[in-house]
Amino acid sequence: MPAMLILGIESSCDETGIALYSTDPGGGLLAHALHSQILMHQEYGGVVPELASRDHIRRVVPLLRKVLTDSGRSLKELDAIAYTQGPGLAGALLVGAAFAEGLAVALGVPTIPVHHLEGHLLSPLLSDPPPQFPFIALLVSGGHSQLMRVAGVGDYQLLGETLDDAAGEAFDKTAKLLGLPYPGGAALAEMAERGTPGAVKLPRPMLNSGDLDFSFSGLKTAVMLKVREIGSPDAQQSADIARGFEDAIVDVLVKKAMRAVKDSGLRQLVVAGGVGANRELRRRLDAEAHIARCSVFYPKLEFCTDNGAMIALAGALRFQAGASIKPAGAFAVRPRWPLAEV
Ligand code: KG4
Ligand code: ZN
Repeated sequence: MPAMLILGIESSCDETGIALYSTDPGGGLLAHALHSQILMHQEYGGVVPELASRDHIRRVVPLLRKVLTDSGRSLKELDAIAYTQGPGLAGALLVGAAFAEGLAVALGVPTIPVHHLEGHLLSPLLSDPPPQFPFIALLVSGGHSQLMRVAGVGDYQLLGETLDDAAGEAFDKTAKLLGLPYPGGAALAEMAERGTPGAVKLPRPMLNSGDLDFSFSGLKTAVMLKVREIGSPDAQQSADIARGFEDAIVDVLVKKAMRAVKDSGLRQLVVAGGVGANRELRRRLDAEAHIARCSVFYPKLEFCTDNGAMIALAGALRFQAGASIKPAGAFAVRPRWPLAEV
């Protein structure tokens, strides 16, 4: 198959991401650009969907221009356009989808609708060396917490998932309880570094449930009760709570991920999604994986959270596999879309 040049567009939530990926052996990711709306949503304490959609509209063309300039490529050279079809915010998805489909019609190229989580799952393939199929993936983002067996592009088996809050959501809600601005995951992790291990003990929900499912809403409630009990925690008390929270959630994630690896007999674990940026999670997983003699792969930090590169990559791999390509034009977004249906 001749080399293909794929444009990737991500707009499912509060980041506009655009990237250009070439399937040429000497190509790979040629350029990528991102605009995060975090500052805009911060004053509301969470993502405001209508504001998100409007901002995607403002950003998509300048980001596309930047990617073309940075890579020295032109629109005429594109072979296909991949975009996030879901899951995500309906209005935000519609911006990326409508833009991608319109541009593809104008250029006379096909489109590749991509599942956002598939993008996260495949993002470690942007690293060098990449993991080899099959592998176990721990997908921990703001909206999802899942353990999957990934046998190949489009071949995903759900092993376990959260029954309530996602790991990132639990980080963000706990951060809010401690007075940190949205999305507080990274700031909470930073705060936890100043906390004393063991000073605040919190429950490890479903640690010994015998399956690979998670539940994090009880942990968030335990933090809320702790904060109430103290009244208004000072800096050290807040750091101790943050530390207690991080240790609890990391314990559960590490134990279940390692169990999934062991049960599967596979030797590779891939960690994807925004919470994959968490240093303590990485430290603990690396230590456990060393003992279990398996390898852990992480996407580069910039590809842990939402980005266009993972969508361009997923689109390119789907293109190569001959799957999911459609003529440009009619489209629908899928705000709710189980990965198992891919
Ligand atoms: O993958 P992502 O960009 O969003 C979804 O697709 O949902 O992940 C964002 C999530 C947020 O909840 C954010 O607080 C969390 O990832 N996050 C972190 C860290 N960096 C980002 N959570 C814990 N520790 C971090 N260092
Ligand atoms: Zn995401």
